[in-house]
Amino acid sequence: VPIDMTVKVKDNSVAIVGFHDGSAGQVESWFEKVSGFEIACFIIDSDEYKYVDIVEENIKRACKSTSFPENSLFKGRTLIISSDWLEIICEIGIRKVLCLEPDNRKRLAHITMVKKRGLQLVSAIHPSAIIMSDVKISDGVWINPACVIGYKAEISSGVIINTGVQVDHHNVVEECCQLDPGVVTAGNVVLRQCCHLHTGAILINRVEIGSNSVVGAGAVVLKNIPANSTAVGVPARVISRDIDSA
Ligand SMILES: CC(C)(COP(=O)(O)OP(=O)(O)OC[C@H]1O[C@@H](n2cnc3c(N)ncnc32)[C@H](O)[C@@H]1OP(=O)(O)O)[C@@H](O)C(=O)NCCC(=O)NCCS
Repeated sequence: VPIDMTVKVKDNSVAIVGFHDGSAGQVESWFEKVSGFEIACFIIDSDEYKYVDIVEENIKRACKSTSFPENSLFKGRTLIISSDWLEIICEIGIRKVLCLEPDNRKRLAHITMVKKRGLQLVSAIHPSAIIMSDVKISDGVWINPACVIGYKAEISSGVIINTGVQVDHHNVVEECCQLDPGVVTAGNVVLRQCCHLHTGAILINRVEIGSNSVVGAGAVVLKNIPANSTAVGVPARVISRDIDSA
């Protein structure tokens, strides 16, 4: 895979791990303006990537303007396609990484590698998000526009909080959880590592979602959901307990 070693690296250069237009692509549209960082490259954590025909692909889509990787570029910026990306960015001199891989377990692996290597995890927090008093936010999170993060909430590394989410007071959100658009969690909710709350899910106060578990779109969660489970509906019921946590 040809790697563009001519990437101009500065102190504020960031590598973004991820290349989907809904995640990394979306963040690219505001990240530099609000953070003062510069995006040096995007990364596909794989040794091969099958480029799609962008015109063909957009014909199939309702929104015809979706961006895809093209000729070792994504959004006109250098694209590194390699499972050895950490070595490559270290070699080019990039010391800051924003992890936007949508798969929670893979993102956890990425942030673990980045931390172990002594690189800095960078966050992307949209300025329209409202962060209340005494909130603790670890490095390496993505918070999209119009979110509210309640008083004393704790947000760990690798957490993705999508558009218009409300995380209320005293929530504990462990590493690499993901909250899709419009999720609402009441006070004292606990989200264990890598759980995923889909669009518009509502959680009453004091419930806990186990690690790796998935809550379906529009679910109303009234009691704890065990680890590695999928729960859907109103009220939410567990429909499977077989999520692979490997
Ligand atoms: C929860 C979810 C991940 C489950 O997916 P799945 O494991 O493939 O489940 P299936 O589609 O096989 O459905 C299994 C059963 O659960 C039901 N079900 C699935 N999702 C449901 C939901 N959100 N609410 C209510 N019932 C649901 C199905 O109707 C089906 O019921 P049946 O067995 O009686 O026919 C998925 O349905 C979902 O909610 N996805 C949301 C995606 C989303 O919001 N993405 C946003 C990205 S930004």
